[in-house]
Amino acid sequence: MAIQVVILAAGQGKRMRSHLPKVLHSLAGKPLLEHVIDTAQKISPDSPPIIVYGHQGDILKNALQHHNVCWVEQHEQLGTGHAVLQAMPHLADENGVVILYGDVPLISQHTLKKLIDAAENTFSILTTNLEHPHGYGRIKRDEHNNIVAIIEEKDANYAERKITEVNTGIYFIPAKLLKKWLPKLKNNNAQHEYYLTDVITQAVDENIMIHASHPESDDEIFGINDRLQLAHVERRYQKKLAEKLMLQGVTMIDPARVDIRGDVRIGQDVIIDINVILEGNVTIGNNCVIGPNTILRNTVIENNVEIKANSFIDGAEIADHVVIGPFARLRPGTILAANSHVGNFVEIKNSFIGANTKVNHLSYVGDSEVGVSVNIGAGTITCNYDGINKHKTIIGDNAFIGSCTQLVAPVTVGEGATIGAGSTITRDAPAHKLTLSRVPQKTILDWQRPVKDKKSET
Ligand code: UD1
Ligand code: CA
Repeated sequence: MAIQVVILAAGQGKRMRSHLPKVLHSLAGKPLLEHVIDTAQKISPDSPPIIVYGHQGDILKNALQHHNVCWVEQHEQLGTGHAVLQAMPHLADENGVVILYGDVPLISQHTLKKLIDAAENTFSILTTNLEHPHGYGRIKRDEHNNIVAIIEEKDANYAERKITEVNTGIYFIPAKLLKKWLPKLKNNNAQHEYYLTDVITQAVDENIMIHASHPESDDEIFGINDRLQLAHVERRYQKKLAEKLMLQGVTMIDPARVDIRGDVRIGQDVIIDINVILEGNVTIGNNCVIGPNTILRNTVIENNVEIKANSFIDGAEIADHVVIGPFARLRPGTILAANSHVGNFVEIKNSFIGANTKVNHLSYVGDSEVGVSVNIGAGTITCNYDGINKHKTIIGDNAFIGSCTQLVAPVTVGEGATIGAGSTITRDAPAHKLTLSRVPQKTILDWQRPVKDKKSET
């Protein structure tokens, strides 16, 4: 049976107390709903997930426009059964339907595969036993241990409330059965809602076996209703991500103080110090050290790289044996070749820095091509912007740029050239020559320090 996924996301999410739709709040740097969409696409790669939404549809569609999904509006929130009913026109009779929630982000592909297998092409429910089942629908079984009903907390009697097996709200149901059962749902219950859970009664009436399957971990079925739960799930998820990396050979000084917000691949014997944030697509090779308070975003780092404390690296490519920081800022388009050094309070943007080159102190290098074994002195600035356009600076191999130089782009410094400290370079500097622009130093021999004027004293 081919699988189609329906994601319920029409609930208002009032308890978030937010203008942002609940399912757009971020977990590990990605909207809740996007986690669910990504998992849906894994179990059903051939058909886009159907998302049932209610409020702020334009905001949702806009935020997730890069996803191939099918949007279905539920005008009024009349219950989970009514929500799934809205998706019916998009479901093919011969398919099996997996129902997920937009606010239950950690459900895994593995657990869903087990759920689908357990269904044996009929019906399965993901259930789990909770020490504190409060708030969940309870799974009612008969004397043969067959599932016969799901009782919502608000409709449950005292004995039913004692049941600890709960409905996670995630099911596999063939489309054909849903199409038969959903239109028959009634809302004669405590909440006057059309409960999806009531299809169980219909299945039981038709002698259809209901299978139960369980999640690997209860974190997977945790729903988010307020910001406390959001923070809780974030921590649980971060812990899991950190554990996975540690088991792959990454040392974390404190796994509770590393945050992963994207797709991260890390080699062996990498040491990650505290308060490191990894965002977007980050690849780190072997034997690297990532110093404390460092942010790495969309960056590729090869082997034996050392990043010292408090560096912010965004959109860079960093080759072997590079040393960066402390307090370095690398912006998108920065490429550092092997053995180069970028030191404290250096900003580099859209530039290539050649092998063995050093930019160690207080510099700005933008839109530049810097050769191999260049030394860029402290306080050097490429003046790449004339107020309208950006221009390029080219520095040849083995050049030496004296401290506090301004390179007014477009400008080229030739191979092996030396620039005298404090120069403002506005024209190309020839190879192997000393170029400097500096007002000659003078000393005024008869100069005297002013003395305090008596009348101005107060
Ligand atoms: C539902 C289940 C309950 C289960 C629990 C697990 C029913 C009747 N009850 O209860 O057995 O233990 O989930 O969390 O199904 N939604 C819509 N449209 C609606 C109503 C809800 O899209 O009209 C969406 C919500 O956005 C949410 C999901 O469905 O993502 C669940 O809704 P919620 O109101 O949280 O269901 P519960 O009452 O918690
Ligand atoms: Ca809920």
